[in-house]
Amino acid sequence: MDSKTKALNEKLELSRLGGGQARIDKQHQKKKLTARERVLYLLDEGSFEEIGALVTHRTKDFGMENQKFYGDGVVTGYGTVNGRLIYIFAQDFTVFGGSLSETHAEKICKIMDMAVNVGAPIIGLNDSGGARIQEGVRSLGGYADIFYRNVQASGVIPQISAIMGPCAGGAVYSPAMTDFTLMVQDTSYMFVTGPNVVKTVTNEEVTSEELGGASVHSTKSGVAHLTSSNDVEALEDIKRLLSYLPQNNREKAIDIPFDLKDEVRESLSDIVPDNPNKPYDMHQVIEGIIDEDSFYEIHKDFAENIIVGFARLGGKSVGVVANQPMFLAGVLDVNSSTKAARLVRFCDAFNIPLLVLEDVPGFLPGTDQEWNAIITNGAKLLYAFSEATVPRVTVITRKAYGGAYDVMNSKHIGADMNFAWPNAEIAVMGAKGAAEIIFKREISAADDKEAKWKEKEAEYANLFANPYSAAERGFIDEVILPKNTRRKLIKAFHMLENKDVNRPNRKHGNIPL
Ligand code: COA
Repeated sequence: MDSKTKALNEKLELSRLGGGQARIDKQHQKKKLTARERVLYLLDEGSFEEIGALVTHRTKDFGMENQKFYGDGVVTGYGTVNGRLIYIFAQDFTVFGGSLSETHAEKICKIMDMAVNVGAPIIGLNDSGGARIQEGVRSLGGYADIFYRNVQASGVIPQISAIMGPCAGGAVYSPAMTDFTLMVQDTSYMFVTGPNVVKTVTNEEVTSEELGGASVHSTKSGVAHLTSSNDVEALEDIKRLLSYLPQNNREKAIDIPFDLKDEVRESLSDIVPDNPNKPYDMHQVIEGIIDEDSFYEIHKDFAENIIVGFARLGGKSVGVVANQPMFLAGVLDVNSSTKAARLVRFCDAFNIPLLVLEDVPGFLPGTDQEWNAIITNGAKLLYAFSEATVPRVTVITRKAYGGAYDVMNSKHIGADMNFAWPNAEIAVMGAKGAAEIIFKREISAADDKEAKWKEKEAEYANLFANPYSAAERGFIDEVILPKNTRRKLIKAFHMLENKDVNRPNRKHGNIPL
């Protein structure tokens, strides 16, 4: 080996070692993979090409000129996942705790720019102590350079963030502006201000886990879209998520070859109970309709009164939004509206058709909801559906009441095909409440008030607790038997394949925030 080759190899070997073996061992003791191990696990074998392995920081303060590590705490480059190009950066906690320096940020920005110019997803694996303290404002500038690019890339290429260690302070805002944030159980946390600052300012005593661990962000705040039990599972989750997405906003997700057979699913006939007040699990309806084992749920443990995720239907990737009667009777509230709106907008940006399964008794009443702006938040979902131009199909499995009927991808706000099952109830409200209001005088004048109420309730139910009044007006395109739903949907989405809607030019709309 000549001396030049030897010198290069030595440098690359040093770069591969990051902060050194002792710190790598420490990372493993915490049950975490190193940045490089994560990248190599995620990408197809032999596909990773590193960019910037020999970058070092430029800081001279605090004796930093004597502490340089090749790569400067972030591994960046490109490769393939299941044969499809992606760009990746993985913060290396073994180098200054993965903290973000000016050059660390430059490396990330460089591959973000490439990802946008080429049109391929960018994956960020975050594991960092935040801003490189020795660099001060240069580090903050680096964050802002990344944030700015996150926004320019939004809706152009899919952006996925995995939090696989600390992510605190300003660092949280890059993941927050990407499309999906995954967190690893027990080893990751995200917060704007940590437990010490919280204690000083509000006198609350909390641990990092309680303040911003994966379980908190997947149940209470909704910041985490997916939670994985360890690093390997998180990387598998990213692979699965990518399989439903196109490379960029000019392309469609890849279809899996599919032959239409009879597609009748008898199991769908017995899911909805006869008693309209009895809950059932909408997951069963989803599973009964979609291609086998293809449902990938997002935000699973957050706002469980609505289910969102990706699935395949006749081999095509679709976004699913479904009311869940098992939780809060499937009502729309602040969290479920924003959760669903976010998926709708993602799907619309990336040409993924939308399937909506509707069983909604209305919006959740109460001061908590009103004071937390159910008006503005419910409007987000209404806005998101109304602006979406991808193929949109709705199936009403049972209730479609009040304003929530309009919001849940109704024909009036641009849905393409709306189906209802024969037991569907499409009305302003439930028959009991309706009778109480519009027949108030007759009921109170009657000798047997209870009997009168029942009679009027039946009268109202007879008129509106069915799909036919809506079907007569064309608000429902077809009333279908549950068992035929899968076939109808596959054909509808196939028919809508080349839908192309152009809206008037504008800078951007003003979604209620
Ligand atoms: N800037 C520079 N170096 C940092 C750093 C930062 N923000 N965060 C961590 N490091 C370095 C540590 O000095 C340590 O260096 P060493 O390996 O040479 O000893 C190494 O990264 C690991 O940090 P350590 O504190 O030993 O790891 P830990 O797992 O015990 O704790 C943190 C991790 C993130 C909780 C802790 O390092 C921390 O609080 N960091 C500062 C967070 C912060 O305030 N950031 C700035 C504002 S965004």
